[in-house]
Amino acid sequence: MADKDLKKLIEKALDMRELSYAPYSHYRVGAALESEDGQIFGGCNVENSSYGAANCAERTAFYKAVSEGISRFRRIVITGGTDNEELQYCSPCGICRQVMREFCDPKTFEIILARTPDDYRIYTLEQLLPESFGPENLL
Ligand code: THU
Repeated sequence: MADKDLKKLIEKALDMRELSYAPYSHYRVGAALESEDGQIFGGCNVENSSYGAANCAERTAFYKAVSEGISRFRRIVITGGTDNEELQYCSPCGICRQVMREFCDPKTFEIILARTPDDYRIYTLEQLLPESFGPENLL
């Protein structure tokens, strides 16, 4: 059973998925990113007729937060699937994992792949992006 705050975060990600702009893949993704100070930033995937210009839901949420001055995070919920089908456990793409790595502690940041408020899997960033390269290699 999910704790109340996690359920709310999953509901937010599901709501964000409704805003997905995915006329080409029909694969709609919603994300809800929680900052260390408890703010929630939503995101959805935004596709483009020039396919490479698409932005994933996760990066939309991260860039919204960072561009508002927030850059420390606790966890993200991701919800995704094709129109009119059951949701999948939608795992973040490699580029999004690397973007998370820029702003999150791999050992503690949680990535929650949710199908419903009661059906989800939790991973740390380190599990999904082992042996990673990050800002401390350069800064
Ligand atoms: N997508 C995301 O937004 N997040 C993911 O974790 C996986 C893929 C989007 C990109 C594209 O708009 C569509 O899903 C199909 O790849």
